[in-house]
Formats: sequence, structure tokens, C-alpha cells
Amino acid sequence: MADVVRIAVLASGGGSNFQALVDRFQRAEAPDREVVGVIASREGAGVLERARRAGVASAVVPAARSDEADATFLLRTLAGWRSDIVVLAGYMKLVPEGVVRAHWGRILNIHPALLPSFGGRGMYGARVHRAVVDAGARVTGATVHFVDEAYDRGPILCQWPVPVLEGDPPASVAARVLKVEHRLLPAAVEALASGTVRLAADGRVRWSREWFESERFFNREG
Ligand code: GRF
Repeated sequence: MADVVRIAVLASGGGSNFQALVDRFQRAEAPDREVVGVIASREGAGVLERARRAGVASAVVPAARSDEADATFLLRTLAGWRSDIVVLAGYMKLVPEGVVRAHWGRILNIHPALLPSFGGRGMYGARVHRAVVDAGARVTGATVHFVDEAYDRGPILCQWPVPVLEGDPPASVAARVLKVEHRLLPAAVEALASGTVRLAADGRVRWSREWFESERFFNREG
């Protein structure tokens, strides 16, 4: 990737994961990474205020338009920011196929459960954690995966398990998972930016063995 890797974020909600990326990459110690913009799926999303405070550009997908219009808007905006990596962090809309194809292997999503369980259409926010508790699962977690044309389906890059404790209400599980997301997502984006992980032509995720053995996953500063 380029000398400075330009990271764009798509979000719909409060944007705590966007904030985790800003905190990791918008620092003097990380001159070779830049969060260049956030695209919100709706006006009023909390992430827009976070972007304003961080001095990061933002855009909102115009409401009530076709998939095709969404695709054109997303492609133009992402290209305008010269985005190298696109990160879905709580983005509630399906990303149009043309956008996925244009960023193949450079577009990631974070999901608050251990995929392939508890994912797919309609599995978002509190619903995910409610389903985990109702199923009696003892372990849940966070997943970062490459995005393809379906919700929560693309090749998995990394996961972090989180215990579900006896009697935990879904909100407690959600809070525990979210903390982990804030560590996992920046680490995954850094791994992609540095070429430590990539999506190979055969559709499989390839991690660099050398890096893995050096235990730098969470330790690299900047
Ligand atoms: C996160 O739980 C993420 O995994 C999911 O949506 C939530 C977004 O939270 N895709 P935030 O807006 O980053 O706080």
C-alpha cells in the first residue's frame, strides 16, 4: 500500500469504533496512517459529531435513493478521499456490490459476535447479544472480516473471544464485547495496512508467519 495508508470509515451509530481508529492512527506517532473520512448512513448519527471533533471529513449518504445511487455516492466519496482501506464500523446498510468489488481485499467489517454464528441480515446491535444469551452460549466475542456482497459473510481476518457469564444480561455482554472491539479493530486495520495480512486471490486470508511469531499484534506503536 501507499506510504501513507488512507483509512475511510462507514458508520451509522455512535462511532466508538471510529473513535478507536482515530485514537490509534491520528497521532504524531502514526504518521504513515490517516483516517481520512467517515461516511454515515444517516443524518444525526453520533459518529458525525466525533468526526467533527477529531477534524476528520464526513459525508452522509443521501436518503431514500436507489442502490445504484448509493453506490455512485460511496464510490465518488471514497475515491475523493483517495481511500486505501475502507472500514465498516457499525454501518447498517448493505454495501452495494460495485463498492465491494472496487475495494476487494481492502474493505473490512467488525461484528460483535463470533461469526459465522449470530450474524447475517437483521443481526445487529442489541439483537446479537440477546440471541447469544438466549442460545445459552458461554463464549461470544468480536470478529473482523473482509466484506463481500452479503451481510457478515466474508473471509474472517481475526476474532477475539469474550466469556458470557452466568446471568449476564445482553447489555453486559455488549459492553464487554465492545471493549474488545476497540482493541481488535485498530489492530486488524494496522495488520492490513502493513501487509501483515491480506486476502489472497483464492479468497483465503493469509497472515504473515514471521509477524505472527514476533508477537507484535497488539504491541506495534504507530
Ligand atoms: C459495534 O458493536 C460493531 O461491532 C457493530 O456495530 C457496533 C457499532 O458501535 N457492527 P459504534 O458505533 O462503533 O460504537
